[in-house]
Amino acid sequence: MSTDSSPRSDLRFDFSGRKVIHTGSAQGIGRATVERFLADGATVVAVDLDTSALTELAERSDGALHLIDGDVADPETAARAVAALDGEVDILINNAGVLRDRIHWKLTDDDWTRVLDVHLRGTFNFIRACTPAMRKAGYGRIINTTSYAGIRGNFGQANYSAAKAGIIGLTKAVAKEVAAFGVTVNAISPNAQTAMIDSIPEERREEIRKEVPMQRFSSTDEVVPAIAFLASAEAGYITGVVVPVDGGISI
Ligand SMILES: NC(=O)c1ccc[n+]([C@@H]2O[C@H](COP(=O)([O-])OP(=O)(O)OC[C@H]3O[C@@H](n4cnc5c(N)ncnc54)[C@H](O)[C@@H]3O)[C@@H](O)[C@H]2O)c1
Repeated sequence: MSTDSSPRSDLRFDFSGRKVIHTGSAQGIGRATVERFLADGATVVAVDLDTSALTELAERSDGALHLIDGDVADPETAARAVAALDGEVDILINNAGVLRDRIHWKLTDDDWTRVLDVHLRGTFNFIRACTPAMRKAGYGRIINTTSYAGIRGNFGQANYSAAKAGIIGLTKAVAKEVAAFGVTVNAISPNAQTAMIDSIPEERREEIRKEVPMQRFSSTDEVVPAIAFLASAEAGYITGVVVPVDGGISI
């Protein structure tokens, strides 16, 4: 029996005409998600510190992919992203992320502030910038990115665990505030083989892999269907939840 259940590539949702803002788009889970939205008809504003890896994709997109270089920790970046869609946003994916791992007594003020700023403040910046348009339209889908570190804590990641736990609280609070406007707010908790995972020392990475009940990291393509579903019109009665796409590591 194979434990490597392949993603269903025919599970698709119609995003034609939908306007998407996506952060942390240049690589990893973000890039795979942006490609899926484009393939399924959306117009996408992709935000990253450096979007040059997406230039070729943008050139091939027939005007559907707009690139914004900027830091999600800066509210101005969120304002630029909304302006690029002329103030109309259907879907927001908060995915940008960074690690500054150290045992807590060795964390510098900058390690703490930067990780909290990128994950928690960045997610808040984009939510605050996008919900006025969504409330006005009476429709919206927001998907934030948390982690099993935020669900159960992770050794060597006090800053990241605090930021990702904060994102869960933010998700639930905002879900309540915008529910009456037809806007849903959910989070995913991935565990995919990306540059972020590669940046973890090999020995620790192997320990993490062994903690995963499925004994492996996913591909980025296995995360995308969960994001696409939560971003779809079909998921309109699901709000305030965390969907783990993590092989069971958050259990
Ligand atoms: N890969 C995993 O197993 C895993 C597990 C749990 C959570 N996550 C979360 O999933 C998200 C994506 O992770 P990934 O593994 O694809 O990471 P990645 O490192 O491959 O990609 C992250 C992207 O975010 C961008 N980014 C970083 N800081 C930014 C900033 N301040 N402003 C704008 N863009 C910024 C990076 O340039 C990069 O393109 C992150 O939020 C991460 O914390 C990943």
